[in-house]
Amino acid sequence: MSLKLEDDVLPAYTYSPPAQAPRRRSRALRFLLLALTSYLLLRLSGLRLPWSHTPTYRPAHADSIIAQCRSLPLLPTPPADFAQRRVSDRFDPGTPPTLVVNGTIWLGGDSVVQGDVYMDGGVIRAIGYVPEALYVDVPGVVVVQAQGAWVTPGIVDLHSHLGVDSAPSLDGSGDTNSILGAVQPWLRSLDGLNTRDMAYGLSISGGVTSALVLPGSADNIGGQAFMIKLRPTKERSSSAMVVEPPYGLWNGSDVDPEAPVRWRHMKHACGENPSRVYDSTRMDSIWRFRQAYALAASVRDAQDDYCASALSGDWLQIADQSFPYDLALEALVDTLRGKVKVNVHCYEAVDFDGLVRLTNEFKFPIAAFHHAHEAYLVPELLKKTWGGAPAIAMFATNARYKREAYRGSEFAAKILADEGIPVVMKSDHPVLNSRYLLYEAQQAYFYGLNASLALAAVTSTSAGAAGFAHRLGHLKVGHDADVVVWDSHPLQLGATPLQVYIDGIAQLSYAPEVSLEGGMTRMTLKELPRGELQQLPAVADYEREAQETLEYDGEPPLGPREVHAGEVLFTNVLSVWQREGGELQEQVFSLEQPMITGQVLVKNGAVVCTGDCAHLAPSARVVDLEWGSVAPGLTSYGSSLGLVEIRAEPSTNDGRAYDLFGSPAPGVLGGHLLRAVDGVQFGGKDMLIAHRSGVSTAVTAPVSYGFLSGLSGAFRTGAWNKAEVGSVVKPVTALHVAVGHRGSTPSISAQVAGLRHLLSGATEGEVWWDVAHGTIPLIIQVDSADIMSTLILLKQEIEIQFGSTLQLSFAGANEAWLVAKNIADDGIGVILAPSRTYPAEWEKMRTLPGIPLTDETNISLLLEYNVTVAIGIVEEWEARNTRFDAIWAYRDAHGKISKRQALELVSYNVNKLLGLEESSLSGDLVAYKGGDFFSTGAKVVGMLSAERGVTELF
Ligand SMILES: *[C@@H]1O[C@H](CO)[C@@H](O)[C@H](O)[C@H]1NC(C)=O
Ligand SMILES: *[C@@H]1O[C@H](CO)[C@@H](O)[C@H](O)[C@H]1NC(C)=O
Ligand SMILES: *[C@@H]1O[C@H](CO)[C@@H](O)[C@H](O)[C@H]1NC(C)=O
Ligand SMILES: *[C@@H]1O[C@H](CO)[C@@H](O)[C@H](O)[C@H]1NC(C)=O
Ligand SMILES: *[C@@H]1O[C@H](CO)[C@@H](O)[C@H](O)[C@H]1NC(C)=O
Repeated sequence: MSLKLEDDVLPAYTYSPPAQAPRRRSRALRFLLLALTSYLLLRLSGLRLPWSHTPTYRPAHADSIIAQCRSLPLLPTPPADFAQRRVSDRFDPGTPPTLVVNGTIWLGGDSVVQGDVYMDGGVIRAIGYVPEALYVDVPGVVVVQAQGAWVTPGIVDLHSHLGVDSAPSLDGSGDTNSILGAVQPWLRSLDGLNTRDMAYGLSISGGVTSALVLPGSADNIGGQAFMIKLRPTKERSSSAMVVEPPYGLWNGSDVDPEAPVRWRHMKHACGENPSRVYDSTRMDSIWRFRQAYALAASVRDAQDDYCASALSGDWLQIADQSFPYDLALEALVDTLRGKVKVNVHCYEAVDFDGLVRLTNEFKFPIAAFHHAHEAYLVPELLKKTWGGAPAIAMFATNARYKREAYRGSEFAAKILADEGIPVVMKSDHPVLNSRYLLYEAQQAYFYGLNASLALAAVTSTSAGAAGFAHRLGHLKVGHDADVVVWDSHPLQLGATPLQVYIDGIAQLSYAPEVSLEGGMTRMTLKELPRGELQQLPAVADYEREAQETLEYDGEPPLGPREVHAGEVLFTNVLSVWQREGGELQEQVFSLEQPMITGQVLVKNGAVVCTGDCAHLAPSARVVDLEWGSVAPGLTSYGSSLGLVEIRAEPSTNDGRAYDLFGSPAPGVLGGHLLRAVDGVQFGGKDMLIAHRSGVSTAVTAPVSYGFLSGLSGAFRTGAWNKAEVGSVVKPVTALHVAVGHRGSTPSISAQVAGLRHLLSGATEGEVWWDVAHGTIPLIIQVDSADIMSTLILLKQEIEIQFGSTLQLSFAGANEAWLVAKNIADDGIGVILAPSRTYPAEWEKMRTLPGIPLTDETNISLLLEYNVTVAIGIVEEWEARNTRFDAIWAYRDAHGKISKRQALELVSYNVNKLLGLEESSLSGDLVAYKGGDFFSTGAKVVGMLSAERGVTELF
C-alpha cells in the first residue's frame, strides 16, 4: 500500500511543466486573427475604417459590449427576491410538503427554539411557530413527530473529494489530482464527479447534505471546485448535483450580463504537496502563483482598458479588437475580480506568509485556508490577508502525519475563534469519512471551542465561507430545506440522524403510517430521541493546556507535571474499574455519602486501598477527582505507534519490513523475523498524547505494506526510553501477517499458499512452529469475508496437522460480521480497525454501517456470537481517541452492549487477543476527573503504573 496522505497526493516524481511560450504565441496569433477578421467584417459591412477618423463610428454589437463591460465589476449576489422564494431551483416535483413537529431547533448562534419546521417546494417555509393556514389546505403533507429531538441545518462540508475519490477506490477512479501541470485554473472537479460513490449515502446518514468538492493538492492551482448536494437526483447526472452552478458552466463566455453573478470556487495549494509532486521547492511554488496571477492581471487590465474605451464611447480606439479573453486564464481573472472563493490547502506559517503576500500583491481575497495546522500560531499574519482573515478549515485531532502538521493542536479551533477568525471543521473526505464530520465539531467543542461556534463550524460558517449563506447552513425561511433531526444533542459523541432532508426530500426511508388526518400522512421516526443525551455535554477545562501550546510555539511539554513514587490519594471517586478474577468489575461509591466513601490510595503506582482510605496516608499527595473514576489503562493496536513519528518522514520512523513476496529479506537476517521491540522509539508526540489521553500501552507490529510484518511488542506509551523499568510491557506479543490486496502483493491465492507453507512446513525452533502450535498468537490483517472463510479452513487444516489450537485473530476485519458464526465456532478473535468502517476498498465493501442505516453494529453482532472483540485504529494520531471510540461503540449499540463490554473492547480484550493477558496482570490504571470513563467531559489527570512504580499526574 502506498503512503496515503491528505488529498491523495502521489509520491514524488519528476515532471517538467510545459513552457509558457507556445501558449503566448498562440494567443498572439489569435489576437492577430481576430484583428484581421474584424477588419474584413468592417470592410464587408461597408463601414469606414478606424483610420478614416469617423467620429460617429459605433459597432453593431456596441450594446452587448457595454452590457458585458458593465457586468465586469459586479460581485456575486443572490437575486434580490431570493429570500422570498417559495420554490427552490432544486425542487423535485412530487416531493411531499413536510411538517416536523416539536423539535428543539438550533437557529444558529446561541438561539434555540422549541417548535416546528415546515418545508415545501424544497425550501423552509416556516420555523418555530408554523401557522396552520400554511399547510392545512395543502394535500399530502407528511407530519413527523420529533418528540423534542434536536433539529439543525444539514451539514455543509467545505472540503470534500466525494465523487472524485470515490468508494470503493478502484484504479478507474481517482479523479482528484491532475499531474499535467502545477497551474491549471481551467480544470473542474465536476468533470470527474462520479455519481456512483458508496460514500454519498453513508455521509448523508451522518447528516451531511452538501459538500464543496475540491480538486486535490498536487498542483498549486488545482482547478475549480463545485458545491454539490449529496442526494440522488432524478437526472442521475453529475451536473444535477451542483448547487447554483456558475452560469459559465453551460454557457461558457456567453453569459447573460444582466444575470446576478454566482460564486465560483477554486482550489490552490502551497507547501509540501505541490512542491513534492513537481520536484521543486516552496520558492518555486510561490513563483508559479505570482507568474499565473501576473498573466491573469494582464488579461484583466486589457479587459479594463478595452471597457474604458467602450464605456466612454471611444469605439475607434478598440475598433480592431475584440473583448480580451483567455479561456485558460478566465477563472483566475474572475478571481482577481473577486468572484471566486479561493480555498487554499496550506499548513505552515511559512506558507501562509507567502500566500498572504501574494494576495496583497495581486489584491484578491481568500475564502479559507485548509488544514492550516499552524494557523493558530499566526493570527496576526492571517489578518493581513487582502480582504480580511480567511476562514480556517481544519481537522480536530488529525495531526503530525507530515512535517507541516507536526505542530497541529486540538486547541487550534478555540485559539483561532478567540482571535475572531472564522473556524470551519472539514473532512477532506475520504481522508476523514465525512459521515463523521460532526465528530470534528464535537472534538473542537470538547477542547474549548464554544458550542455555538462548534455547530456553526460545520453548518453556517462553512456555508458562509463558500458564499452560500443565502441558502445553506442555516435554518431560515426561504433557505434550502436541508434539515437534520438528531437522536441526541448534536455535540454529544455518537449523535446520529433520525432523519435527514435534502431539498425537502427525506433521505432515510422509514415506512410511513398512513393515517388520514385531513389528507396528512404521519411518519414515525424509527428510533427515538435519546433522553439521557439531549443535553449539551459537559466539557473539561483545557485552558491551561491551550495557553501552554501557544507559550511553547505549538510544542508544549507532553509529559506528566508530577511523578510520585510515594502515596497519592484520589478523593471524590465515583467508581473504580478493576480486574477481579479475570473480569473487569466496577466498584461504585455512593453519591449520598461523599465524606466517607470514594477514595483510592495509590503507593508506588499500585492501588493499596479503595473506599475510605484517607486515614491510612495523612501525608499523601491529594487529588480531587470531582466525581471522576479510575479505570484500566487502554491498549492501542493497529497503527505504528512507537515505530513512526511523522508518517511522511522516513528519517523519523523505523522504516518498512521486508516483504516475503516483494523484496525478500536479505541473507543477513538468516531467516529471522523482525521484532518491533528492536525499532521502538519512545517520547514521540503521538505516544505521549495517547498516554495523557488514557492509553497506557501500545501493541505495535513492524511497519509493513505487504504480506509479512513480523513480531509485535507491547510498549508503555509514557516511557522515555527502553532502558527505563517497565518501558517494554512484553518484547514479543504476536506474529503479524496481512492477506489482501495491498501494494505489490501477489494474488490472494498465492498469499494463502505462502501462509500454508510457512505454517505447515514449520520446524521446531522457528516462530512459525510456535504459531502453528498455538503458543504465539497469529494476527492476520484481513478485511474480506471470503478471505476470512479461507483462513478459517486453513486454521483447521493446520490444527489437524499438528493436533494444536491456533491463537488466531483477524484484524481490520471489516466484513467479519458476515462470517460471525464461523469465527465464533472456531474461537477466532476479531480486532475491528477502524472501529467505524468505511468501504474504502473493494474487499471492505460489505460493512455493516450501523445506525441509522442498520440496527446492529458489527461489534454488538460479534459479541452476541460470543466472539472476543477488540477495536483498534489505523493511524498513530488516532490512539489518543481510543476512549472516544469505546464510548461511541457503547452509544451506537443502543443498549446491546454493556459499559463493561465497551471498556473491554479497548483494554482486556485487546490484551487477551494479543497475548498480553498475563503480563498485564498488574495493569496500569487511569484517573479521570469530572466524570466516569464514559463521560466525554472527563479529563485524564493521572496514570497509575505499578510496574513502573509511579503515579503520574498531568
Ligand atoms: C415535545 O416532546 C417532548 C419530548 O417528547 C414532550 O415532553 C412534550 O410534551 C412535547 N411537546 C408537545 C407540544 O408535544
Ligand atoms: C445560458 O444559456 C441559456 C440558453 O442556452 C439561456 O436560457 C440562459 O439564460 C443562459 N444563462 C445565462 C446566465 O446566461
Ligand atoms: C460563542 O462565541 C461567540 C463569539 O465570541 C459568541 O458570540 C457566543 O455568544 C458564544 N456562545 C456561547 C454559547 O458561549
Ligand atoms: C463494522 O466493522 C468495521 C470494521 O472494523 C468498522 O469499521 C465499522 O465501524 C463497524 N460498524 C459499526 C457500526 O460499528
Ligand atoms: C454466548 O454465550 C452465552 C453464555 O455462555 C450463551 O448463553 C449464548 O447462547 C452464546 N451465544 C451464542 C450465539 O452461541
